[in-house]
Amino acid sequence: MPIIPFVSPKGGTGKSTSALLLATFLAKLYDVTIIDADPNNPIKDWAAGGNAPPRLTVISDVEEETIIGRIEEAAANTPFVIVDLEGTASKIVLYAISQADLVIVPMQGSHEDAKAASRAVRVIRQSEKMTRVPKPFSVLLTRTNPMIRTRGLAHIQKGLVDAGIPVLRTELNERDAFKAVFSFQQTLDGLNSQAVPNLDKAKLNVGEFAQEIIERIMAEQGGRKDDATDVIAGAA
Ligand SMILES: Nc1ncnc2c1ncn2[C@@H]1O[C@H](COP(=O)(O)OP(=O)(O)O)[C@@H](O)[C@H]1O
Ligand SMILES: [Mg+2]
Repeated sequence: MPIIPFVSPKGGTGKSTSALLLATFLAKLYDVTIIDADPNNPIKDWAAGGNAPPRLTVISDVEEETIIGRIEEAAANTPFVIVDLEGTASKIVLYAISQADLVIVPMQGSHEDAKAASRAVRVIRQSEKMTRVPKPFSVLLTRTNPMIRTRGLAHIQKGLVDAGIPVLRTELNERDAFKAVFSFQQTLDGLNSQAVPNLDKAKLNVGEFAQEIIERIMAEQGGRKDDATDVIAGAA
């Protein structure tokens, strides 16, 4: 029952976008709960558009005192639980991490986001110390340019690798489609390809992202890499 929180103590790193893209992709095949634990309620607002897929349950109004119970409940009801958190360092984040099978730390290729990502990693390591159980996590690079690899980004990536921080090989590229999901309160599949440039590329990108996350979780749980292909076959 994978529980996947998206964590960074900084706003604007791509948490809500990446969390929603993963949740709506998986909801094509599975029952999925997305817990909107951000008091600004970005996911609840998105769902208010009425276009959430039928297999996606959105839960909001979650607080520090209730988050663990809400995650447990969601994990009992649906095979996938995605948690979107506020960009702050707070206890609610630590609680969500404590329940996680895989923590995703989104960051844009900036120095500020890299600093925020290392703070998130410190919190994850703290959770490992508290529970004495390894906590799988990965950094996700967001809003990268699909055409150009800047030297700044290459430098930041090297810094992460040198620090022993796992980074997903799939990046979420900068795409209008990913913004349009929120502005039109739609799923990627619900967007109009006439109105949104490179929608097909955006969809492929999300499929790869989901595949890699499932691979990571299955590897942690001792499964075969090919199992991940079976898990998401048919959703792309
Ligand atoms: N891959 C992406 N492509 C284009 N825009 C993005 C992408 N990821 C995030 N954004 C935009 O960046 C801003 C911050 O993203 P968001 O997901 O809300 O971050 P967070 O939840 O970490 O605060 C939003 O305006 C969002 O539309
Ligand atoms: Mg957010």
